[in-house]
Amino acid sequence: MTKYIALIAGATGAIGSALARQLSPNKEWKVYGVSRHTPQDPIAGVIYLTMDMNDRGNCESVLADHPGITHVFYCGRATHGEQMLESAEDNLRLLDNLIHGVESSAHHLQHVHLVQGGKYYGVHIGPFPSPAREEDSRAPIPNFNYAQQDYLAQRADQSAWSWSASRPNTLIHYSPSIARNLVSSLGTYAAICRELGAALDFPGPVGAFNSLTQLTSIDLLARGIDWMSTEKACGDNAFNMTNTDLFRWKSLWPKIAHAFGMPCGEVRPMTLTTTMADRDELWSSICANHQLQDLPLSRVANWGYLDATLERYWDEIFSHTKTRKFGFHDWDDSEERFLAILRRYQQEKILPF
Ligand SMILES: NC(=O)c1ccc[n+]([C@@H]2O[C@H](COP(=O)([O-])OP(=O)(O)OC[C@H]3O[C@@H](n4cnc5c(N)ncnc54)[C@H](OP(=O)(O)O)[C@@H]3O)[C@@H](O)[C@H]2O)c1
Repeated sequence: MTKYIALIAGATGAIGSALARQLSPNKEWKVYGVSRHTPQDPIAGVIYLTMDMNDRGNCESVLADHPGITHVFYCGRATHGEQMLESAEDNLRLLDNLIHGVESSAHHLQHVHLVQGGKYYGVHIGPFPSPAREEDSRAPIPNFNYAQQDYLAQRADQSAWSWSASRPNTLIHYSPSIARNLVSSLGTYAAICRELGAALDFPGPVGAFNSLTQLTSIDLLARGIDWMSTEKACGDNAFNMTNTDLFRWKSLWPKIAHAFGMPCGEVRPMTLTTTMADRDELWSSICANHQLQDLPLSRVANWGYLDATLERYWDEIFSHTKTRKFGFHDWDDSEERFLAILRRYQQEKILPF
């Protein structure tokens, strides 16, 4: 029997679709999903609404027909360039228009969840105090995560609903339609190196090869969001959400090379945005030679994202003390999951064996 009505904003994105897959099979949830474009791979049980969160009037009119919403999950993200500062103003406007639209019609709103990320701690800027704890002081940088959290905390103070926020680090997931993807981008890089007769060199600096890092499996994040949004004690709190284990690229790297049957190389810093530019034809011939789905290179790899992720020579460690204290004990094995997702890309003929 339906107990909650969810509105997932950004339901076609990486995290929004994972959350939709988590909630929709559960009979307690009725799930609406919001995006500007219709989904390429709609998830069974999700009712999709086409809406532009940039347009306040559009939010109000679309949501006027859905007065029963109890939970809002904000997984949206304003359009941004890779390695560019994401605008606090643009991201706040999307959230504000959405909340305004929901509050105009929904009279049973209980909770609003905000997806944040390691950027809250400045993982993308440079070394940060680690393990990062949720209550650590903020980094002195403009940051849309801060603007959105402050906005929600203030609105919740004047309302009957509570808020929560999740802070995953770099995500790993199987999402064939999303190129901003660590596993498919790395797998594509490996396949191109192999085709060129090169070994699998690590393209970041030596510090990044050796530093300790944490990943977040997207399904674990979805379970964590489900938990913190329905567990009363979590109201008005933020929680780190990673797999809880730690690894070094230097440990995973030879296993990625093994998955492609190629020699493991060395640390050879390079900018993939430059070295992998103009590889479209080569990629097409890899697809043809290995009878792969003929997906364009721009659909499987995002070099700017990979550059930004592999250049971090600092440790990326988030504390899990608060999450555990509040009752969430889920975990995942990052290396094992990474390799399983990579294998799935190979089995689905998106990447070669
Ligand atoms: N991806 C990661 O690796 C990662 C890691 C840690 C944290 N995070 C954080 O998680 C949050 C979500 O990121 P994501 O990567 O999952 O996002 P994403 O894949 O870029 O998806 C964004 C979603 O928002 C929708 N959207 C964008 N503008 C919209 C608008 N004006 N109106 C309605 N819908 C709109 C998009 O659909 P349409 O384009 O069709 O509108 C899409 O469904 C961000 O705060 C991000 O910083 C992400």
